[in-house]
Amino acid sequence: MSAPSMTLFHNPLSPYVRKVMVLLHETGQTDRVALQHSQLTPVSPDLALCEDNPLGKIPALRLADGNVIHDSRVILDYLDHQHVGNPLIPRDGPARWRRLTLASLADGIMDAAVMIRYEQALRAPEKHWDQWLDGQREKIRRALVLLETDAIAELTSHFDVAAISVACALGYLDLRHPDLEWRAANPQLAEWFFEVSQRASMLATMPKV
Ligand code: BEZ
Repeated sequence: MSAPSMTLFHNPLSPYVRKVMVLLHETGQTDRVALQHSQLTPVSPDLALCEDNPLGKIPALRLADGNVIHDSRVILDYLDHQHVGNPLIPRDGPARWRRLTLASLADGIMDAAVMIRYEQALRAPEKHWDQWLDGQREKIRRALVLLETDAIAELTSHFDVAAISVACALGYLDLRHPDLEWRAANPQLAEWFFEVSQRASMLATMPKV
């Protein structure tokens, strides 16, 4: 086994990082990447990370040549070009745009869920903006309805960028927002998530607090 040639700014609780880790597992590339732990919030940035990504966001990936790429979508695309198996992001055609749109929907669920988490964990309760929190929850609810009613067959057909992204978004809801009880309104999605959660890549990257 050769030494890892890339370094990933990593936190096991980040759903965006988890997408990258799942893709590395699915494509047999985990040995190529060293993990650098990054502890951060919007109000306490990781200064070492900020030198490589001024936005201070994870994941960021330092390549063998020293260049740093981000965000998670760019990193997934890069890593999907570094293996010889079937691409997990379709290279062209309608499938490419559909799968990337489903992945974008999942990223939007993560965005809303992480925003809620920051509001609840970092701001004093008397400063919580309830209307804004409800707006974020509504985004999540609407996105899940679309996945439940329109995308189950597509998610089941391939464990690719779309499925990985949705699985990581649902995993983050379970981690930080079990109160949302997303399974109640989305039974097919719940069944699909139960199945994909048994994959080695998902088990190896399960977030734990
Ligand atoms: C979290 O602890 O919820 C978290 C950590 C890193 C990035 C995003 C969320």
